[in-house]
Amino acid sequence: MIIAHRGASGVAPENTFSAFEKAVALKANMIELDIQLTRDGHWIVMHDDSLKRTCGVRKPVRVLPLSKMKTLDAGSWFSKDFSGEKVPVLDDLLSWAKNKISLNIEIKGKINLKGKAVGSLLKTISDHGMKKEVLLSSFNWNILRAVRNLDRNIPIGLLVNRELRSRYIKEALHLEAVSIHLPKHKMRKGLPEMIHALKMRVLVYTLNSLEEMERCASVGIDGFFTNYPDLPTQKKLPVKKV
Ligand code: G3P
Ligand code: CA
Repeated sequence: MIIAHRGASGVAPENTFSAFEKAVALKANMIELDIQLTRDGHWIVMHDDSLKRTCGVRKPVRVLPLSKMKTLDAGSWFSKDFSGEKVPVLDDLLSWAKNKISLNIEIKGKINLKGKAVGSLLKTISDHGMKKEVLLSSFNWNILRAVRNLDRNIPIGLLVNRELRSRYIKEALHLEAVSIHLPKHKMRKGLPEMIHALKMRVLVYTLNSLEEMERCASVGIDGFFTNYPDLPTQKKLPVKKV
């Protein structure tokens, strides 16, 4: 399974419709994207906490309302060919993706778990009839617990950074996750087999060279995140499409 990381972010500005359209054109199986809340509680697509790197504005994402977010240029930093590219609103992205491609939505940012944010996210996904076409993930496992408390069925992928194996396996089972998303440095022979025995998939981030893809494919992972979703087919890496 080839997952376009922030869309096809090697060839178009990350987390924009250009990167998502390119991912579909390059035949990715899934698109990964990051979401955050605007000041007025709308979910938008953005990786960094700050707008500086991709929009050239020295402010945190959470201080701008949606109306201001819509005026930003999220493409020029990458290349002038993409100037005027908008910050996607999750609602619009779900409409676009429906019947086209599944989404791994990574929840970023600081969220008040006592508020309405998680509920509004689940409602938006459900309103679009996309509950079976999304995989929700986060490095913040408290957010994933809140997701699971509100929805017993929505697919969850546990994002792991430095945590020990015993800890992330325990959490994944607790969350009834369908997949565990591991950084490439944690990948070892035998690990996918062990996770498969617990009925979960193993996805690895972020592989941008053929060598890394080959190494991880050889230990039996189910898929990987990459900025270059056509690299395996270009170079004829024998990955199984699912
Ligand atoms: O979900 C895998 C990967 O996207 C996590 O890292 O920093 O690119 O969001 P990051
Ligand atoms: Ca991400």
